[in-house]
Amino acid sequence: MQQQTLAIIKPDGVARNLIGEIIGRIEAHGLRIQAMKMIHLSKTQAEAFYAVHRERPFFQSLTDFMSEGPVVSMILSGENAIQVWRDLMGATDPVKAAPGTIRRDFGQSIERNTTHGSDGQETAAFETAYFFSQIESVN
Ligand code: CMP
Repeated sequence: MQQQTLAIIKPDGVARNLIGEIIGRIEAHGLRIQAMKMIHLSKTQAEAFYAVHRERPFFQSLTDFMSEGPVVSMILSGENAIQVWRDLMGATDPVKAAPGTIRRDFGQSIERNTTHGSDGQETAAFETAYFFSQIESVN
């Protein structure tokens, strides 16, 4: 199934000059980049993006981290794009992520885990619309 998903290179990835490395892996795995921008989220914008985690103990720390510096957000598309991107990233916790995945190779902690990806179709629809308007996404 052709899908779209939201990918974010988090502040720890941008700060360590990993943008090119990560985009290289995305392209090498056949995903298409349909939209892309760099943005420095405000704390309020990070809180709204991660609103589903509002009750989690790590919510404040997570939203501080996500607003500490710029991120690169992208809409990726392709066959089973949601799962393909999740597989490329690896498990949330870098120590549990499989060898060769982005989070295993670059993640610093369960929070500073370098990339984000939508976890399902509903989330992908919310998250892509949160970052991009229709005119910013190519067909
Ligand atoms: P992400 O895929 O962006 O989705 C939610 C984020 O919350 C996750 O990556 C991590 O950055 C962070 N996160 C998830 N679980 C924890 C945890 N137990 N402690 C701290 N941060 C977490």
